[in-house]
Amino acid sequence: MIIDSHCHLDDERYNDDIDAVIERAKEQGVEKFIIPGADPKTLARAVELAEKYDEVYFSVGVHPYDAKNYDRNYLEKYVSHVKCVAIGECGLDYFRLPESEEAIEIEKKLQKEVFIDQILWAKELKLPLIVHIRESSVDCLELLEKHAGEDGGVLHCYNADESLLKLSSKNFYYGIGGVLTFKNAKKLINVYPKIPNDKLIIETDAPYLTPHPYRGKRNEPSYTKHIASKMVELSAIEQDRLESMTTNNTKRLFTKIR
Ligand code: NI
Repeated sequence: MIIDSHCHLDDERYNDDIDAVIERAKEQGVEKFIIPGADPKTLARAVELAEKYDEVYFSVGVHPYDAKNYDRNYLEKYVSHVKCVAIGECGLDYFRLPESEEAIEIEKKLQKEVFIDQILWAKELKLPLIVHIRESSVDCLELLEKHAGEDGGVLHCYNADESLLKLSSKNFYYGIGGVLTFKNAKKLINVYPKIPNDKLIIETDAPYLTPHPYRGKRNEPSYTKHIASKMVELSAIEQDRLESMTTNNTKRLFTKIR
């Protein structure tokens, strides 16, 4: 049994075949799904899916790309929902920055403010965080060490930066996705064995980051098997054990999952 701890099933690319997507995943042993709230525009769809399917949960937050649309009052309506399991995905993303120095400073400042507000909100509600980190390890580490509460969270889009392993002692987990199956993922493959076993969780980030051998196609939760197989290869533990271990880890972090 596997939990896909990060799949954007509220994305419009699943509008036409969501039942089949969930069915295919269940056939591959995926028992639960978490839709990370990234874009307030699709949050209503995430809630609709969580109310329709027992296996689907969601979180509430704003992705760094969308920082300018952050509005805690709007999100507040959804956060007390019985199936809202976390705050996020929030974080910092310095991959796509504007051109001028001045615009870069403004963008970074905005992303940090919005990230800090979500960290503090999670602490207040005693919910874990789903954190997106890209080209921003130093700043993310600083903000999480300074502000995060005891409920920790998961580092998604984990870009293999070893310095982030420090957060495992602050109840942070590491979301492993399709990148692990890529031929050019040397950095992640080197860091992977250093992640404590009890801090590993599985995520597809569907519809993005499709694992090998489906790269180029739309990603979906049924492909978690390919991520798990690669983890088995690198961990030297059996598939069944890896699946139950990561599932238990995911449930330990997201305590509202039933
Ligand atoms: Ni994502």
